[in-house]
Amino acid sequence: MSRHRNVRNLDIDDVLDDGYDDADYAEEQVMTAEEQVQMADATEDVKSMLGGAKVTIKEIQDALWYYYFDIDQAAVYLLDELSKKQKAATAAATKKASSTPKPAQSGTATPTGTSSKSVAPAKAKETPKGLASATQDDDIIEFLDDEEAPASQLQFDLAAMNFGSSLKTQFAKKAAGGTSFAKAPLLNGGDGFDRSGAVTPVGSAPPSGISTPSRASTKMGKRIDVVTEYQKRVAEKESLNLVVIGHVDAGKSTLMGHLLYLQGEVNEKTIRKHERDAQKIGKASFAFAWVLDETGEERARGITMDVGVTKFETENRRFTLLDAPGHRDFIPNMISGTAQADVAVLVVDATTGEFESGFDANGQTKEHALLARSLGVQQLVVAVNKLDVVGWSESRFQEIVAKLEQFLVKDASFKKSSLIFVPCSGFTGENLVRRSKTGQICNGSAVSDAPVDPLVASVVETFAWYKGPTLIQTIDKLDAPTRAVEKPFRMSVTDVFKGTGGVSAAGRLEAGHVQIGEAVMVMPGSEMAVVKNMEVNDEPTRWAAAGDSVLLTLSGIDIMQVSTGSVLCPRDAPIPVTTHFAAQIVVFDVKIPITVGFPIIMHHQSHNEPGVISKLVSTIDKGTGEVVKKNPRHLGKNTTAMVEIRLNGRAIPLETFKDSKELGRVMLRKGGETVAAGIVTKILSFGS
Ligand code: GTP
Ligand code: MG
Repeated sequence: MSRHRNVRNLDIDDVLDDGYDDADYAEEQVMTAEEQVQMADATEDVKSMLGGAKVTIKEIQDALWYYYFDIDQAAVYLLDELSKKQKAATAAATKKASSTPKPAQSGTATPTGTSSKSVAPAKAKETPKGLASATQDDDIIEFLDDEEAPASQLQFDLAAMNFGSSLKTQFAKKAAGGTSFAKAPLLNGGDGFDRSGAVTPVGSAPPSGISTPSRASTKMGKRIDVVTEYQKRVAEKESLNLVVIGHVDAGKSTLMGHLLYLQGEVNEKTIRKHERDAQKIGKASFAFAWVLDETGEERARGITMDVGVTKFETENRRFTLLDAPGHRDFIPNMISGTAQADVAVLVVDATTGEFESGFDANGQTKEHALLARSLGVQQLVVAVNKLDVVGWSESRFQEIVAKLEQFLVKDASFKKSSLIFVPCSGFTGENLVRRSKTGQICNGSAVSDAPVDPLVASVVETFAWYKGPTLIQTIDKLDAPTRAVEKPFRMSVTDVFKGTGGVSAAGRLEAGHVQIGEAVMVMPGSEMAVVKNMEVNDEPTRWAAAGDSVLLTLSGIDIMQVSTGSVLCPRDAPIPVTTHFAAQIVVFDVKIPITVGFPIIMHHQSHNEPGVISKLVSTIDKGTGEVVKKNPRHLGKNTTAMVEIRLNGRAIPLETFKDSKELGRVMLRKGGETVAAGIVTKILSFGS
């Protein structure tokens, strides 16, 4: 049996039974010269991975020795040990302060998967002898920062959870990301554990006296100053996450698939293949949509079900494209995708009757727009699509603009100046990247000899009225929001799978930054992992920052402990995990007023959790923010109110809107309709 396993899962019986004879450890071992070099390098690596955590060189080297220089395992083990000590210290402090009111936080339980028994290298390889010992001062890795840990950093221990997946694994196409451990306050004060360096993992004899090498480790590479790198990158080209939303069949996937083709992100061979294959199943018109609709079921049904993710670049911007499903059954996926977006393209079908059915009460045009706005999207491009079907009619375009603008400004609270309307045809490609000229008419096919529809053939004359920018020119001008790069690292996981070399977790960095070699904590569950690799836009990278969509390879963790909906964070600044919180909500067009006990499905990032509105605190004047009525009996449509929400089951990671604009928003739905949108104002219970 290998001893290169995660110590957290060690069981004493296992330990006793692992095939090693005690006699093996009776002798003192001496490190070879080669091992000393290896130890020196690995020590630097682990130090770097632990960020500022106060761990002694001796502890690091004990762990490295035990794990045969496996730096990931050693780092995860050490972090786990620190976490346990901190929890024990907090528990002791809580006990001592029994006369004071009980704090809201709970959760001093051992993290899932952590044995409460001796988890240290109980049968560690004996430490070699004869190496000079470092002084106490040299022995401590100092914190980079000594910020005080907020109360919310108290432990949030929960069983690891399993949530449904919502994003396609295709995400691998865009990301950039990074997290960092620039600050490590939690370990730095008030937690009561011994930082003197005298703590030795149980049963592990120290490899005493290996002097720490001064040269930098080569294996992990140098720590990157991510903030500086990020600023350089932004100066070169800004990155934005763009979601494409709208009623079912409005032409979202076709439009974006065609745009990707015209931008050279998809080659002609692929489009021709899609045309042939789509034709075979009688879905010829879906060839461009197949660029984003990748699953067999989506292609067979001709609808998008999951959010398709890919990337493309314009002259001045890098985009992560999220193609949302329009069908109402998949609104949870649409919410999950839109939660990651900075800007949106709302696609509407200009066809007579089709725009109207998307726009009426049962259509998704309004609901998608409201959701996008509630999820923080401020800039909206409206693609008035399928204009080929209405003979490139200017009056139809203007009619749609007028109706939509009124709704978007008045009801959905978009600023008029943040709305841009672009007429186009996703099918023919008209006005996506260029306009048709005489003799060069886009005909909706990558196959140049395809017949040209008479309506399409008239485009040059009949569409001459439009003098504005193309869709690509429009989105190239969208502003990137200010990113919370210097806040504690947060990555919401949208997809998890077993990858080569570890657990692959895809998602978006909501705040902070991350780099290879850093240790991250997975919430809920408080399990630690080390970032072994990462990808952005299919390209390997060493760091990523807020706003980036990333694919991380995590080591030192079991796939069961990371789920869609998990949030990765630094262990010293964990995200709260809760089932009970206060929120300020805006009630949508509800048929039945909201009363106490009103059941809801709460959507937050990739989570959708059943719960109830447990308390109606007050109604609020939307304009002034003042309380209009305390303890109202019910909330009617368009009311703004403070409420409390209780989830029925598992706790989820959640932040107040004040702490995170990205992780502090919730959507409340019932019976397949969105009843309210809200921002989290206070976390009322922690950890369960
Ligand atoms: P969901 O994702 O399922 O909501 O649909 P969608 O909005 O992605 O629509 P999709 O791209 O799948 O297109 C639906 C149908 O509309 C397909 O048959 C397309 O060929 C057709 N379509 C899309 N855009 C245009 C257009 O500009 N003109 C015409 N004539 N047809 C279009
Ligand atoms: Mg689609």
